[in-house]
Amino acid sequence: MLLELNGISKSFLGVRVLDGVGLQVRAGEVHAVVGENGAGKSTLMKIASGAHQPDAGMIHLDGDPVSFRDPRQAQAAGIGIIHQEFNLLPERTVAQNVFLGREPTRRGLVDLRAMHERTEELLASVGQEGISPQATAGTLGVARQQVVEIVKALSLDARVLIMDEPTASLADHEVELLYALVRRLQERGIGILYVSHRLKEVFDLSSRITVLKDGKLVTTLDTAATSPEALVRHMVGRELAHYYPPRATATPGPARLALKAAGNRKLHAIDLELRAGEVVGIGGLQGSGRSSLARAIFGVNRFSTGEMFLDGSPLHVRSPRHAVRAGIAYVTEDRKAEGLVLGQSVLDNAMLALRAVTPTVAGRAARAVGIRELLAGVQVHAAGERQEVRFLSGGNQQKVILARWLAMKPRILLFDEPTRGIDVGAKAAIHDLIRRLADDGAAVLMISSELPELIGMSDRIVVLRDGRVAGELPAGPPEESVVGLATGAGS
Ligand SMILES: Nc1ncnc2c1ncn2[C@@H]1O[C@H](COP(=O)(O)OP(=O)(O)OP(=O)(O)O)[C@@H](O)[C@H]1O
Ligand SMILES: [Mg+2]
Repeated sequence: MLLELNGISKSFLGVRVLDGVGLQVRAGEVHAVVGENGAGKSTLMKIASGAHQPDAGMIHLDGDPVSFRDPRQAQAAGIGIIHQEFNLLPERTVAQNVFLGREPTRRGLVDLRAMHERTEELLASVGQEGISPQATAGTLGVARQQVVEIVKALSLDARVLIMDEPTASLADHEVELLYALVRRLQERGIGILYVSHRLKEVFDLSSRITVLKDGKLVTTLDTAATSPEALVRHMVGRELAHYYPPRATATPGPARLALKAAGNRKLHAIDLELRAGEVVGIGGLQGSGRSSLARAIFGVNRFSTGEMFLDGSPLHVRSPRHAVRAGIAYVTEDRKAEGLVLGQSVLDNAMLALRAVTPTVAGRAARAVGIRELLAGVQVHAAGERQEVRFLSGGNQQKVILARWLAMKPRILLFDEPTRGIDVGAKAAIHDLIRRLADDGAAVLMISSELPELIGMSDRIVVLRDGRVAGELPAGPPEESVVGLATGAGS
């Protein structure tokens, strides 16, 4: 057995988050780990890779007992990890990130050329020649940052590779790339621990699946001998119908937001209307301009040409703060950049956006009631509303961000990958919430790389390609139509 975890327990501040959990990874095996937000998956992965030390239990590598004081020791032993939250230094280059702390040197100086060449080779080996080793990491989209993380782990010659939600925001065709990559690693005999909320991937890639619930081992299954339905039952302890809320039946109201020939460095002559009561899906490949569009509407990087109208009146959004005051909310795809105040409580974080729109303390207190309902509605799993958000699992932090924006009762909602990293049960609850917001008169724009979600939720889908509107599709199109427009196939 390549890697063996036995009887692993871990408590934080007196709360037990792992309780006697064990699993094994064979050489060349993809072993999936699933469970609800807060089940303990990331904590177990951090223990296997030296970031946390277990309170009890044993780790064996090739049959020998090992213990890691820090990630460096685990890395030296051959255990690499790609975290759920990226750890790239945004202001450094891709190459600097890949070789951080072990830069090739020549005559005592960092050998930039060698570093760039080796990074280029690594990127080419995973089919990502498009990423420049000299690009600044922070300027890359989430999907590309993920590729850099994978390349970094590869460069470390890992024998066990832990991937904590590696495909969290990759579009379907990019997932294929990751699949090919994973298979290549398997052939080299690398054992992979694969944490994901996307059950399709779990079934496509793994040979065995371990289910955690509330810090305990539920079961380890042979993938071939189980089904998604059975797996979900193990995860959430009940049946879960796979459905999307019914679409809007009323004709949408007047245009809340309209763009006329709007453009900037990344976007060209965008015409778009978001009407009260509708959910407009935005499709497109990584880099097609989907997030740029949301960012421009929200005033992060503004439009330089064209016009934007809010409820019929021209609006020049000067900043995100200005956008918030105008009733626009934006849930970004990157929760780190979202500005969760990690040392503050769940409740305070959820109330943060309200400060801009509800200036009085009394007004905010009145809203707090609604926020508690929202936190319950999105199924935040925390020790209490006073718990600091830094102690929440990744998915639960994401839910706090959602609650924060929903609390603002915005007229226009921009969602970028709204259910990224969220477990199957809470996902359905969030879909219902999004639909209810639209039914209450909000205009919703939703970017999603998960085609079933995009198609299941949207009243119509606008597909972007190379920063332009490639076309629009009515509710419920076949997946091929979206992909066709996104890739330009057949046009
Ligand atoms: N450093 C910490 N201090 C206190 N509590 C923590 C800490 N890290 C994790 N926890 C708690 O441990 C539990 C398990 O968290 P973990 O991040 O392992 O969940 P997860 O299964 O990875 O969830 P997700 O699907 O949301 O990523 C959660 O209740 C979380 O709040
Ligand atoms: Mg996690």
